[in-house]
Amino acid sequence: MLSVMIFCVYLYLMYEPLCLAVKHSMKYFVSASTGVPHFPEFVGALVIDEILTGNCDSNKKTVEPKQDWMKKIFEGDPQLFEWYSGQCSDYQPNFSKAMISNLKQRFNQSGDVHILQEVFGCAWDDETGEVNGFNQYGYNGEDFIALDLKTLTWIAPKPQAVITKMRWDAEKTRIKYNEIFLTQICPEWLNNYLDLGKSSLLRIDLPSVSLLQKTPSSPVSCHATGFYPDSALMFWRKDGEELHEDVDHGEILPNHDGSFQMSVDLNLSSVTPEDWRRYDCVFQLSGVKNDIVIKLDKAEIRTNWEKPSGRTIPITAAVAVLALILISACGVIIYKRKKGEIEKQIICLTYVFTPDNGSELSEKLNPET
Ligand SMILES: *[C@@H]1O[C@H](CO)[C@@H](O)[C@H](O)[C@H]1NC(C)=O
Ligand SMILES: *[C@@H]1O[C@H](CO)[C@@H](O)[C@H](O)[C@H]1NC(C)=O
Ligand SMILES: *[C@@H]1O[C@H](CO)[C@@H](O)[C@H](O)[C@H]1NC(C)=O
Repeated sequence: MLSVMIFCVYLYLMYEPLCLAVKHSMKYFVSASTGVPHFPEFVGALVIDEILTGNCDSNKKTVEPKQDWMKKIFEGDPQLFEWYSGQCSDYQPNFSKAMISNLKQRFNQSGDVHILQEVFGCAWDDETGEVNGFNQYGYNGEDFIALDLKTLTWIAPKPQAVITKMRWDAEKTRIKYNEIFLTQICPEWLNNYLDLGKSSLLRIDLPSVSLLQKTPSSPVSCHATGFYPDSALMFWRKDGEELHEDVDHGEILPNHDGSFQMSVDLNLSSVTPEDWRRYDCVFQLSGVKNDIVIKLDKAEIRTNWEKPSGRTIPITAAVAVLALILISACGVIIYKRKKGEIEKQIICLTYVFTPDNGSELSEKLNPET
């Protein structure tokens, strides 16, 4: 343990990013649906270290790299691009479609909205070298079946999945292929992608941190945006001590540009103006020595309600807050993925795959500007 730490300190001094993002993962998300208006029947996404790297859907049919380095990988390796295209336009959609129609019958369901989700991929711990593969399916928001790589059998948590389990357990070739893909090919690809994309995947970005307040009586929100990676902590202090009461911690949420944001609200309704200076907001990014500290100061708060000529920030602040609301919907959805909130999942996917309509949505939510 000590030697690992010393090694990390050494690496940190020599080459910062290496020791920070200790866990890496590559995940393929596949989602097939029926009966959801204005939403593609099939959507696939490749996510590396929580960054959307490529995606496809049944409308555009082709794989679209979402990061410059992924574009280069595809350009340099047409066979890989072919593999992804085949998965996206042929194999996965057909498989999902057949499976949904099968399950609809088995659950005795008629034409309503149905969603099948699959996630497969691998995660790998730089420090321990441990590699984990996974392949699991959810139906209508609930866990349906998952591959156990230790026993090389499928696990069926619901009685309706038992038939699927028995059939899939008998498909030895497919299980073997999954095993090789998840435990050998996937970590190899992940390693390769991390190497080729390291200037973006292994980078460290500090956020800009600001104080926002919606109305004079609202809590003050300490908002950090633009940081990477997503291993960060933020909290409020009073007289240098971390506060737990009157504090509301938001989740860490993705930005469109691949960075992250988070906020922590402090309810100041029972704090007198003289006492404000005793508070500050602290942001810590894993592995970065210096915290970012913002003192609570009325003059520093970006507000939305008063518009004296000296302060022209309100519009930006409003957009920031609105973007936060939109993205937080997505965060909640990701969090609830396993608990089965189908409608919310759709919103999230819409958000993830059509990021360009952000401004339109903020206008809708913000009719005043
Ligand atoms: C997938 O479905 C399409 C159209 O139904 C068909 O042309 C194609 O051969 C199928 N592919 C596989 C791998 O089954
Ligand atoms: C399936 O649903 C139909 C209509 O709701 C019902 O009549 C039938 O008994 C159901 N079958 C099973 C196996 O549950
Ligand atoms: C802030 O705290 C006060 C009482 O301490 C409470 O009445 C109020 O609802 C709180 N506001 C928010 C937004 O939580």
